[in-house]
Amino acid sequence: MRYPIIAAVIALIALAVVPAVYNGLGVEGDSRGASASLATPPTQVAESSSGSRPRATATAASGGAALGQQIATKNACLGCHSINGTKIVGPTWKGLAGSTRTLQGGGTATADDAYLRESIVSPNAKIVDGYPASTMPQDFGTKLTADEITALIDYIKSLK
Ligand code: HEC
Repeated sequence: MRYPIIAAVIALIALAVVPAVYNGLGVEGDSRGASASLATPPTQVAESSSGSRPRATATAASGGAALGQQIATKNACLGCHSINGTKIVGPTWKGLAGSTRTLQGGGTATADDAYLRESIVSPNAKIVDGYPASTMPQDFGTKLTADEITALIDYIKSLK
């Protein structure tokens, strides 16, 4: 009789700890604004992180971005992509949308919706110069629904 309760407690602890780890990764390399972000409780996803940005306003303006943030946390995107300009394993998402990307092997691409979608579904189609190929998981196109990918793109676009 007691095991389901124990399992529920473990699940709750896991839910509280996992976002904390990813939030930690997201700000670790930032020598400037890191302390302010770390002071925010990581479990409150909608209100967490980056004290300087008006997060609540951005969330109210775009429901997709708030959902995208949750999906990005759940799928470990934020373990490799920062939202504060720091290079982790992959490029930062800050200022990514609409920017010009320099590609491995020459050429450039504009990070519009189609580019962002392709980067998630077929990461090796275009490799950002200076970053390793085949490092980003290749199966998000099958693991995530089209709506979830749209929400992720909304989230990336909210990170100006
Ligand atoms: C294991 C590390 C890792 C994870 C996890 C990961 N990525 Fe990436 N991602 C990378 C790397 C490395 C690159 C750069 C190389 C390339 O272009 O594929 C990249 C590139 C990208 C780009 C293009 C970035 C640019 O600057 O043009 C997007 C968009 C992206 N990832 C989205 C996502 C999303 C969304 C998720 C989660 C659903 C995710 N990534 C998870 C490592 C990762």
